[in-house]
Amino acid sequence: MAGVAAVVLAAGKGTRMKSGLVKVMHRMAGTPMVSWPVAAAREAGATKLVLVVGHQASLIKEYFAGEEEVAFAFQEEQLGTGHAVACACEELKGFHGTVMILCGDVPLVKGATLRKMADFHRSRNAMVTVLTANFLDPAGYGRIVKGKEGKVLRIVEEKDATEEERRITEINSGIYCVEADFLRQAIVNLSNDNAQGEYYLTDIIKSGAEQGHLCLSLPVGDTEEIMGVNDRAQLAEAARIMRSRINGVLMLSGVTIVDPATTYIDAGVNIGADTVIYPGTQISGKTDIGSECIIGPAAIIADCSIMDRVTIKAGSVLSESMLHDGVAIGPMAHLRPGTVLNEHVKIGNFVETKKAVFGAGSKASHLSYLGDATIGSDVNIGCGTITCNYDGVRKHQTVIEDGVFVGSDVQLVAPVKVGRNSLIAAGTTVTMDVPPDSLAISRTPQVNKEGWKLKKK
Ligand code: UD1
Ligand code: CA
Repeated sequence: MAGVAAVVLAAGKGTRMKSGLVKVMHRMAGTPMVSWPVAAAREAGATKLVLVVGHQASLIKEYFAGEEEVAFAFQEEQLGTGHAVACACEELKGFHGTVMILCGDVPLVKGATLRKMADFHRSRNAMVTVLTANFLDPAGYGRIVKGKEGKVLRIVEEKDATEEERRITEINSGIYCVEADFLRQAIVNLSNDNAQGEYYLTDIIKSGAEQGHLCLSLPVGDTEEIMGVNDRAQLAEAARIMRSRINGVLMLSGVTIVDPATTYIDAGVNIGADTVIYPGTQISGKTDIGSECIIGPAAIIADCSIMDRVTIKAGSVLSESMLHDGVAIGPMAHLRPGTVLNEHVKIGNFVETKKAVFGAGSKASHLSYLGDATIGSDVNIGCGTITCNYDGVRKHQTVIEDGVFVGSDVQLVAPVKVGRNSLIAAGTTVTMDVPPDSLAISRTPQVNKEGWKLKKK
């Protein structure tokens, strides 16, 4: 069986987005819109993918850089869908199988649906198969004109349609399977003699049918899949559907999502069984979460690696951090990039960390800033402790060894090192290294002036 290739049309600007960014690069569930049909085509078995790009072509190319089976065809001027596919034909040279044609702005089509279309197309030996839907209100779409035995004769665009044709409710989704050899031959004979002065891809069906080739339509099961995104309201709607699919897959794999409608999880995030996610949580980027974790409500997690039985309490914000088994953080903790928390570390409310490594069992329970720090195991960081890591020019390191007890309201002026098992008294400003097993204290002795308040009066 000859292979399957896919062409994804993505050269248009997307004027109705009213955006400086080309439409297909707007994100849905964390990834650009165009990545979704590309993924669906791959899932359906396409081994070669050609993206037709025009507006902001370099941005799109950059996104797919390194994906070897993705090729690009440049369409300088958008002269119509037929012209766009003609541009892609150069990249399909020597390919004799089935070409799937998709739109970059129809992101919800599923791989399984494309596979079904390709199977249908091949089992019937069709030359062209078009994915369609029956809409009560078909306004704006191309209409499927059929002859005997359900064969498709042509597709007529609304602007070119007669009164009678406009009453046809079967519409063109813009997604097709076409045999490559026929496509190459038909695409060069298109004309732009129509209401929009464009080269219509849909006209290949008319020429195929006239040559006696079998052209068929396959109605899609779920019309949601062929929804086009033209403006930001449709983008939000499509993203909502995509999120609910992602959440659905996670729930079926054993994750509890208390309120899927308010839980935002990006494509590609992995979460283990029996983890519970509370409402308002956002999990994005390259994030992996283990089993039996408790996350949220309203936790914001990006690009983190989180092991098992981790608790992330309300309102915590984490990025580029690593949390080992049994860690507990928050509520309202802020873990910034480079934070590594080993087993059973506890980070409490209003604690900010950055490039900070904590050994197993250490705690910073309240109100601290800990940056550029290496903290050993079983260390207690008292409330209000600050690593003074920045001298206005450079960042400096703080090292706190195993078993150290840091009292409340301590400032550690980096670079500085506190040796193992030492105790830093509350209120101390540490400016010198502390040897192991020592007490460090720097306080102005307290003076009580008796009767002072009465004298003031
Ligand atoms: C097209 C179909 C119509 C179908 C509808 C479904 C044609 C002639 N009409 O109409 O039957 O019902 O899709 O949504 O094909 N593009 C390019 N280069 C171009 C023109 C378009 O890359 O020169 C891309 C666009 O960026 C978009 C896609 O092709 O992703 C569809 O183009 P669009 O102009 O939106 O087609 P419609 O007029 O909606
Ligand atoms: Ca369109």
